[in-house]
Amino acid sequence: MPESEIPLSRPDITDLEETMVLAALRSGRLSIGPMVEQFETLVATRAGCRYGVAVNSGTSGLYLALRALNIGPGDEVITTPFSFVASANCILMAGAKPVFVDIDPVTLNMDPSQVEEAITPRTKGIVAVETFGNPAHMDTYAQIAARYEIPVIEDCCEALGTVYKGRPAGHFGRVGVFGFYPNKQITTGEGGLIVTDDQRLAELCRSMRNQGRPIPSSSATLSALEPPGSAPSTGSWLRHERLGYNFRLAEINAALGVAQMKRLDDILERRQSVAHAYLDRLGGNPHLVMPTILDGTSMSWFVFVVRLAPSYTGEERDRIVRGLRRQDIGSVDYFPCIHLLPFYQEQFGYRPGMYPIAESVSQRTLALPFFNTISTREIDLVCQALEMLIGQENLTRA
Ligand SMILES: Cc1ncc(COP(=O)(O)O)c(C=O)c1O
Repeated sequence: MPESEIPLSRPDITDLEETMVLAALRSGRLSIGPMVEQFETLVATRAGCRYGVAVNSGTSGLYLALRALNIGPGDEVITTPFSFVASANCILMAGAKPVFVDIDPVTLNMDPSQVEEAITPRTKGIVAVETFGNPAHMDTYAQIAARYEIPVIEDCCEALGTVYKGRPAGHFGRVGVFGFYPNKQITTGEGGLIVTDDQRLAELCRSMRNQGRPIPSSSATLSALEPPGSAPSTGSWLRHERLGYNFRLAEINAALGVAQMKRLDDILERRQSVAHAYLDRLGGNPHLVMPTILDGTSMSWFVFVVRLAPSYTGEERDRIVRGLRRQDIGSVDYFPCIHLLPFYQEQFGYRPGMYPIAESVSQRTLALPFFNTISTREIDLVCQALEMLIGQENLTRA
């Protein structure tokens, strides 16, 4: 039994983060300021994209991306049923229909051949998710989308820093969206960031995140959108050219993000060594299936999710998750299938059995504690507890 809790995730905050957040606080400029711009540049550069638009969550970023692409009622958007709910909810929020396709059981991303089969004349986009940070098939989705002249909206909320076949996450779609909730590789507390090479799309997102205010010229990004309290230089503060929202990221959050971005390579390296420690420790266990990372991938690990062998049931997995939690070890059933959520079933008639691979995988996956500062001893305790609980399930079966 661990002496203290081993959480599922824990943000990694150092003196640098504290110093930069304090400096933002003391700067007197708490919104629409230089920290947001710096954060946008750092993340867009990392994604190999020309433009970055910071927003207050990954969900709002995805929603803005769909709106900027003019996706709405009557349109269909293809996505995975095996993801965090926001990757399908953004389609609903835009008024379009999420069309799910089953996943490939090896990488847990959408099966590319099923993506192509699901395309109809109503299909207006593909929300392609790098599930758990794994970029498998992203290049293939992009090729399919190009053939049908529809955009890929890359939901790379879990994949900051991943590189696949030489291309960074965020650069496979017409637009990509990162998320910075505290369980992510880096955090801004809450936050997200849209990346794209498409200037018009970036400008639309920039305007919509800020109440539909006019799009500032690139030479006047700060002065054209003066917040109340400073003398408006252009008079555009109360001009609203389109339906917009307040999806702005505050300077304090952006400062946290800038500090985290400066440490990104160290953070990714540390996460890689934690993942490898788990792989070494659990890789030979016949009751478990480890994550599969394809050749050509430089993986940015978001979580460490293992799955029980196919003979295990959902009830057995749930008992193991509860058993870990009873020992103060964080664990969660990442992810329940989105199409089986009651409101998806009611609105679209999705039913169990429609996406059998996603359903089978989703009954057997469990996330283990995964964060930069987890110790070797804690990893060992997690693995011992997991193995013991799997052993207990086998005793009950016998
Ligand atoms: C794949 C995926 N998409 C979208 C989101 C939504 O991001 P947020 O929680 O910042 O709104 C998340 C994360 O939480 C995610 O993991």
